[in-house]
Amino acid sequence: MLAHNPETQNMSTRELMGNLVLLIVGGNDTTRHSMSGGLLALSENPTEWAKVSANPALIETLIPEIIRWQTPLAHMRRTTVKDVELRGKRIKAGEKVVMWYLSGNRDESAINDADRFVVDRARARQHLSFGFGVHRCLGNRLAEMQLRILWEEILTRFPLIEVMGTPVRLRSAFVRGFKELLVRIPA
Ligand code: HEM
Repeated sequence: MLAHNPETQNMSTRELMGNLVLLIVGGNDTTRHSMSGGLLALSENPTEWAKVSANPALIETLIPEIIRWQTPLAHMRRTTVKDVELRGKRIKAGEKVVMWYLSGNRDESAINDADRFVVDRARARQHLSFGFGVHRCLGNRLAEMQLRILWEEILTRFPLIEVMGTPVRLRSAFVRGFKELLVRIPA
């Protein structure tokens, strides 16, 4: 598609590589850590896991809740194009601003019970994990589809997956993920 679309077929090497990296890395770490994060969240909240097991239709809201809860990319950065005032703070044009999706996703003034993992949350898709505005994640529907299929298949195959020990988290202020999450599937 990139090669044939007039908008993209003549990109510079730098721009092409940038787009490919976004597609490959942006669509890999994010969904991968959402898989591990979802499993951990469900195992730490057994009553929520029981709700989904009893009613797999809840996968519809489980998936966006996992993506909100995990927030696999904690932030992005923007450069302001004009002077703005935000909640009494002045930000000058040209300044670099960090948008903490992770913090927004725990904002009690926007999300009820934001610090709880709730599989049947109302308005579950209203989170910031995919960013906001013109650069909002291009792969958001694909990511949701991957995770939906994963959990549909897990729920039909395994009544229980136990997390063993303490997860080893990735040391990064950007990618919120795991280096190790040992699990056991009881026979
Ligand atoms: C749970 C999974 C995912 C999360 C949490 C996620 C998150 C994000 C975030 C936060 C951004 C930046 C938005 C902004 O700057 O405003 C982004 C952009 C992007 N994502 Fe994702 N992403 C996920 C999955 C995917 C997948 C599966 C793909 C494609 C295979 C993908 C491709 C992209 C691309 C191409 C952009 C750049 C869009 C642009 O700059 O216009 N992402 N994503």
